[in-house]
Amino acid sequence: MIGVGVIGYGYWGPNLVRNFSDIPAVDLRWVCDLQTERLARLRLRYPAVKITEDMADVLADPKVDAVAIATPVFTHFDLAMRALCAGKSVFVEKPITTTSEQAQRLIDEADRRGLVIAVDHTFIHTGAVRKLREVIRKDLGEIYYYDSVRVNLGLFQHDVSVMWDLAVHDLSIMDYALDARPRAVSATGMSHVTGEPENIAYLNLHFDSRLMAHVHVNWLAPVKVRRTLVGGSNKMIVYDDLEPSEKIKVYDRGITLDPMAPRAGERRNQMQIGYRAGDMFAPQLDITEALGSELSEFITCVEHGTKPSADGTAGLRVVRILEAASRSMANGGAVVELPRERVLA
Ligand SMILES: NC(=O)c1ccc[n+]([C@@H]2O[C@H](COP(=O)([O-])OP(=O)(O)OC[C@H]3O[C@@H](n4cnc5c(N)ncnc54)[C@H](O)[C@@H]3O)[C@@H](O)[C@H]2O)c1
Repeated sequence: MIGVGVIGYGYWGPNLVRNFSDIPAVDLRWVCDLQTERLARLRLRYPAVKITEDMADVLADPKVDAVAIATPVFTHFDLAMRALCAGKSVFVEKPITTTSEQAQRLIDEADRRGLVIAVDHTFIHTGAVRKLREVIRKDLGEIYYYDSVRVNLGLFQHDVSVMWDLAVHDLSIMDYALDARPRAVSATGMSHVTGEPENIAYLNLHFDSRLMAHVHVNWLAPVKVRRTLVGGSNKMIVYDDLEPSEKIKVYDRGITLDPMAPRAGERRNQMQIGYRAGDMFAPQLDITEALGSELSEFITCVEHGTKPSADGTAGLRVVRILEAASRSMANGGAVVELPRERVLA
């Protein structure tokens, strides 16, 4: 059995607790939160789990092998470092940390101690995103664009902007599904509440190829949209996460290019653009709850010392893009290069 403690029982923590308690190989030993009334609620549902307001109690338990951290973003680094230093493997919520330097330090500490560090990039464990990756890599041909909209009337956060909250999902999906890493980023954003972080942001990711990626995130939209278009030379995908079952639709649509016979006064080598409007196909998707699969994978990694799909370096790559995008935003949308050698890491 792998002994587990969960730190943070606010909005997301209960999902970790529920899923851990469903994994037969897990001995869910502790839940820790600073707010006693939250722990009182937990006690009713999980009477066998010990509760505490002090993380030190969890770390002092020799039967705890791993700690899952679902606290506000600014606390991730300190709490994760404390857990690693106490010899516990760590599953930390997204984004892994608030700076790339912090993420690197967690990775180094985990490596030094032979511990697992995983970041909750939930979407890469969904059937939809797994299928997205498969179709992108097998059927799309050259990838032309990745265009994502993730907007709703969202909960305004005080410690992170909408980009550090919602764009993490898109960046982690791209990190997993695309066969390319961005070279540079530019971003613009705005806060409509004085003194609070940006509630709307537009990110452009630049690649070495002809691929363009765009992410639009917004907490101040009248309707909820979770839609991604991926265009390729052979096929195109619409991924609508709000669709109950047919979340992924693959369209055999696009253009064909034929050289045009030059006529008087026309440029040479002009191409005749034809349109291909073939069938749409909605593949069958695995509907297992993503968080359940993700936490099961984490526990297997702790048992066998293997690397999770979203390890510390995946978390670090996302934070590097967010950092560069924040710099770009502060400079009116200037293009900010990502460190070259690190992009390929
Ligand atoms: N993967 C996802 O899809 C997803 C969804 C929502 C939130 N999250 C992430 O989960 C994390 C938490 O978000 P939330 O919305 O649940 O926040 P929240 O504010 O609702 O809950 C955080 C909880 O952590 C507790 N806490 C803070 N510091 C603590 C400490 N030192 N020790 C013990 N408890 C402490 C707070 O009392 C609070 O109950 C964030 O990193 C967020 O990005 C992930």
